[in-house]
Amino acid sequence: MLLLTGATGLVGSTLLRRLVAEGTQVRCLVRDPRRLGPLRVRVQIALGDLTDPPSFRNALRGVETVVHLAAAIRDQRRGSIEELNGIATWRMVEAAERRGVERFVFFSALGASPHHRTRLLRAKALAEEAVREAGLRSTVFAPSIIYAPGDPWLTLLERLALLPAMPVSGRGRAVFQPIWAEDVADAVIASLRDGGAITHERVELAGPETLSHTEIVRTVLRSLGRRRALLHVPTPLVSRGLRMLERLAGPSAFATWDEAELMEVSMVSARGAAGAETLGVTPQRMAAVLGTR
Ligand SMILES: NC(=O)c1ccc[n+]([C@@H]2O[C@H](COP(=O)([O-])OP(=O)(O)OC[C@H]3O[C@@H](n4cnc5c(N)ncnc54)[C@H](OP(=O)(O)O)[C@@H]3O)[C@@H](O)[C@H]2O)c1
Repeated sequence: MLLLTGATGLVGSTLLRRLVAEGTQVRCLVRDPRRLGPLRVRVQIALGDLTDPPSFRNALRGVETVVHLAAAIRDQRRGSIEELNGIATWRMVEAAERRGVERFVFFSALGASPHHRTRLLRAKALAEEAVREAGLRSTVFAPSIIYAPGDPWLTLLERLALLPAMPVSGRGRAVFQPIWAEDVADAVIASLRDGGAITHERVELAGPETLSHTEIVRTVLRSLGRRRALLHVPTPLVSRGLRMLERLAGPSAFATWDEAELMEVSMVSARGAAGAETLGVTPQRMAAVLGTR
């Protein structure tokens, strides 16, 4: 039995489709099973929440492998970014160890470090440490930015592209190696098949090209067939504006400063696509995945 958290998310939904198709027995820890769509009848469901460690214990019964994807890039009513990404992972891996789980797969992010400027990447660094120090076989994936047509991030860019000028937070100079969610899922499947003896491995997942935030926005505009001037909004203005929006709109804000800040810090692997390639995956270019109109 494999326990998948975050099965309703971008990577999780893609991965779940593959796992079910190949006949793996999957249990999904979810807040709301309806969000699993038609696949909910093909898996076991464990109701749970990252802020509710007792729900992990039940979900882990009889599980050999955990793929822990659940994460949050904004604060939730019941938990902060630090609790949802850092402390919850620590508790999840601890519960897995106690339940005798053999293998733990965790998704961190490229550049995670205890001193990182962003809250998410500091929390991910702590989570990585907890996974590395646990007494079970583990794989930590550290991806650059992950995307798929129709995902919430590209949908937001698509909506912003309806404006007369396309707003970009800050100078847009941070660089990324965007990797398609399907390529990420392929890499996870390949690593799960690998029965090798490495106790703790860390795999950087990056796409084949390095693009600045500005270049990514231009790629998206090209795929939509829209010509727009880019409007670089100074970072302090974005920060103040989004913080105010969050105070007014709460969790329904269309974007938060913590999210926008992630586009201001580079996420690149010095090895480029080599991490994915060692797992037999050749990641596609963003323009090829999005197509052009
Ligand atoms: N996307 C990227 O660019 C990127 C880059 C680097 C690293 N990563 C990491 O890769 C992993 C997968 O990312 P993703 O883009 O697929 O994430 P995602 O689309 O944002 O999905 C997040 C998942 O976590 C679940 N979740 C959120 N809060 C929860 C809570 N309190 N309790 C239980 N489940 C909760 C969500 O479930 P609901 O349906 O209930 O909301 C959803 O299934 C994450 O660990 C992420 O941090 C992603």
